Amino acid sequence: MNIRIVLLVVLPLIYALFACGQSQDIVYLQALMDSWQNRPPSWVGSDPCGDKWDGIFCNDSRVTSITLVNINLMGFLSGDIGQLSELQLLDLSYNKGLAGSLTPEIGKLKKLAHLHLIGCSFIGPLPHTLGSLPQLSSLSLNANGFSGPIPPSIGNLSKLFVLDLADNMLSGPIPVSDGVNPGLDLLFNTRHFHFGNNRLSGEIPSQLFNSNMTLIHVLFEDNQLTGTIPFTLGLVQKLEVLRLDRNLLSGHIPSNINCLTLLRQLYLSNNKLEGPLPDLSSMTILNYLDMSNNSFESSEIPPWFSSLQSLTTLMMHDTGLKGEVPVDLFHIPHIETLVLRNNRLNGTLDFGDSYSESLKLIDMSNNLISAFVQRSHSANLMLINNPVCKLEATETYCHQPKESNSSYSTPSNNCIPATTCSLDQISSPNCKCAYPYTGTLTFKAPSFSDLGNSTIYTSIQSSMMSSFESNRLPVDSVSLLSHPSMSSYYFVVNLEIFPSGGERFSRSEISMIGFLFSSQTYRPPSSFGPYSFLGNTYLFFSDAEKGKHKMVSIGVIIGGSVGGCVLVLLLFIAGLHVYRKRRAEKATSMNTPFASWDPDKGNGDKPQLKGPRSFTFEELNACTNNFTPTASIGSGGYGMVYRGTLPSGQLVAIKRAQHGSIQSGVEFINEIEVLSRVHHKNLVSLVGFSLDAGKQMLVYEYAVNGSLKDSLLGRSGIRLDWTRRLQIILGAARGLQYLHDLVDPPIIHSDVKSTNILLDTHLNAKVSDFGLSKPLGDSNRALVTTHVKGTVGYIDPEYYVTQQMTKKSDVYSFGIVMLELITARNPVDNGKHIVRVVKESMDRNFREVVDPTIGLSIDLHGLERFVDVAFRCVEKAGNRRPKMSDVVKEIENIMEATGVNPNGESASTSESYGWETNGNNQLERSPLYM
Ligand SMILES: *[C@@H]1O[C@H](CO)[C@@H](O)[C@H](O)[C@H]1NC(C)=O
Ligand SMILES: *[C@@H]1O[C@H](CO)[C@@H](O)[C@H](O)[C@H]1NC(C)=O
Repeated sequence: MNIRIVLLVVLPLIYALFACGQSQDIVYLQALMDSWQNRPPSWVGSDPCGDKWDGIFCNDSRVTSITLVNINLMGFLSGDIGQLSELQLLDLSYNKGLAGSLTPEIGKLKKLAHLHLIGCSFIGPLPHTLGSLPQLSSLSLNANGFSGPIPPSIGNLSKLFVLDLADNMLSGPIPVSDGVNPGLDLLFNTRHFHFGNNRLSGEIPSQLFNSNMTLIHVLFEDNQLTGTIPFTLGLVQKLEVLRLDRNLLSGHIPSNINCLTLLRQLYLSNNKLEGPLPDLSSMTILNYLDMSNNSFESSEIPPWFSSLQSLTTLMMHDTGLKGEVPVDLFHIPHIETLVLRNNRLNGTLDFGDSYSESLKLIDMSNNLISAFVQRSHSANLMLINNPVCKLEATETYCHQPKESNSSYSTPSNNCIPATTCSLDQISSPNCKCAYPYTGTLTFKAPSFSDLGNSTIYTSIQSSMMSSFESNRLPVDSVSLLSHPSMSSYYFVVNLEIFPSGGERFSRSEISMIGFLFSSQTYRPPSSFGPYSFLGNTYLFFSDAEKGKHKMVSIGVIIGGSVGGCVLVLLLFIAGLHVYRKRRAEKATSMNTPFASWDPDKGNGDKPQLKGPRSFTFEELNACTNNFTPTASIGSGGYGMVYRGTLPSGQLVAIKRAQHGSIQSGVEFINEIEVLSRVHHKNLVSLVGFSLDAGKQMLVYEYAVNGSLKDSLLGRSGIRLDWTRRLQIILGAARGLQYLHDLVDPPIIHSDVKSTNILLDTHLNAKVSDFGLSKPLGDSNRALVTTHVKGTVGYIDPEYYVTQQMTKKSDVYSFGIVMLELITARNPVDNGKHIVRVVKESMDRNFREVVDPTIGLSIDLHGLERFVDVAFRCVEKAGNRRPKMSDVVKEIENIMEATGVNPNGESASTSESYGWETNGNNQLERSPLYM
């Protein structure tokens, strides 16, 4: 062969391979983008690496890091993320509009070292695939809505340094290894266990701790942990901060806790701890000790309290302390706070001569102190409800102090605050008007308690400014605001960060500042202990959204290539797209609860695997002809419904939310995410959604033959004979059974009615409108409260009493639909409920209520069995009604007895279409329907 021809073919091929290699990741980035709104305007062009897309960093044309912090992304994290196989850092923190569950595909990122999804709105269980990220060093999933157990597989993460799961709804025990499964006891390199404010329960396993561990922070506060504090905790020699407060811990505190000689902050309050007070005399650098509100044996104040020379804070209220208060206690050099209220301390209170000048609060209310030696002091002393106050009732220490207004805000920096700021602008400490980035810093265990000391705030400020400077971030100044309160469990500081050089931050600047906090790159002085940050949504980006949603088209990629290989490239790209689609479909299947769908276990209907996509307002506007009234096909509690045609030719029904019915964007996204996991041939499927321009819209597949109600009332021109009715009602029952039994968490429809059962081209039943139902949360699996309170005539009588919709409420409504199916009457007709109408007719002449359209040759026996099932569905007491799965079986049995194959195709021959077919197997609608 001519070498030139070979070259002509091979060179473009090589070029194409190279180009495709380069754009391999862009395909998946685009798939990710498809499920996001508010994408960075800089995300245009064909090369995310070369063109410098905001937040994307590459190495050798492969994406290695995605940092999109606090830039208002909305949507969910699609399974395509798993394809970015070179990714080392993924930080999407502080995007409150990011919702849905965390895709198990995340486990494919074998090089991922940092996964930060702080302060988003993710829900659902943590995927066990988190345990297959061998390089993972920081896993920060705090401040989301994650539920379910901590996956034991996390114990496989041998390089894990930070494990922050705080502020979620995680439940169940803390997992430890058992020889077969891993557990958190294997995390020898982890320094931080931050599990606070969850619903963890069970005992703290003694196996969890061992002497090989290098933990410095163990924060388990505010959970439901029971049992005793394991003695193995004393083996974790490096521990500096321990928070076990606000749990249900009981029993004695193990004496070897005294071995934790590096401990600085110890919180054991608000448990049910018993026995003698522990001896903590070896904790010589302890700053903060809180053992309040426990069930200790009554004892005198142990002398070793006064030997803890680093103590700033001693919280011992409600601990059974008795006897006299030793004078030494007031001589601890840096003591700031002594809270000993609600005990049985007695005798004379005396600070002695050399009490500490740092003392700010002494609360000894509700004790038995009979005298007080007056000395001049600046501390806030409380002796309310002590015998001494019977005699000295006028003394200030005998009265509740006025709510001290100890709030702090950063003063202006020797300048006069600007008065000309426009709305939303704030005058900075340097007196310039600007739009600050705001957020909240929560210090979880500071070493001090005197929160009125301004030194604290100036040290935060200066440490933060130097962190901004060393990271070359354009920050002019930081303003702090705090309303500290002794009743708060944490030290909370609100931040305002002002831009330098302009009035606004750009997206990438906000993202980098946010990242400074999400990655804990900013370190406050060590006395502040561990912290978490939550950034607020920033609405003032300097880079306004230009070129929004401009996808990189094939044209762009081709445009960049030389003419000779256009065709080859085109073929490659076409192949790539097929590949991408397959991968995306595969990803979706991994995302759904049906990845291991077993047709024998379910009802034989394999779900379709298609994820919903995000539409822009313009796209939906175009496909409904600007939401023209003639495209409107109905309205409901949610808003107007329009018919539209997508560019692909697919017919869709678009529900556009009314203003009054608008949910928060996060709720909306979460609902979409739940719906996207629901796939059944008897359920209307969700094609997509839009939150664009603040308008909530849901895009559903369109059922051409309208509702069951239309057909029953003869409005659709489709004649429903008995066989067709049985097929339709069976389909609807299967759809509901699926929602009840096969979706996790289950979905209660709560508005089952004949207008919500739609019919497609082949008269398959498609249950619709379950999107407005709420899925059942973990806490109340059997019950659900709904937005929609059902429809008159269909509502479960028990609902009126309990105000709770249950699965059995759906069964009741379904029974009403069954009766409608037979009678073609409204549930309430002439003031009479359909149940009563049918019951009365049973006593006289049943045939008189049967819809004549059903046909006279009907098998009366089957009809009676059908009515019998319907009556059991509408029993007054929910527990006497069958389950949806029973209803499905009953209908199948009736069909088999009638000689109809329950698994046969629905109406499929023109013969069964009744009187208005066009001989083309296509249903024609009567003019009434149009
Ligand atoms: C204080 O209480 C202790 C123990 O409860 C008791 O022994 C002692 O007598 C009391 N002292 C005074 C002055 O009431
Ligand atoms: C405030 O705190 C600093 C550092 O902890 C300390 O040196 C200073 O004495 C405190 N000031 C007051 C008024 O307590």
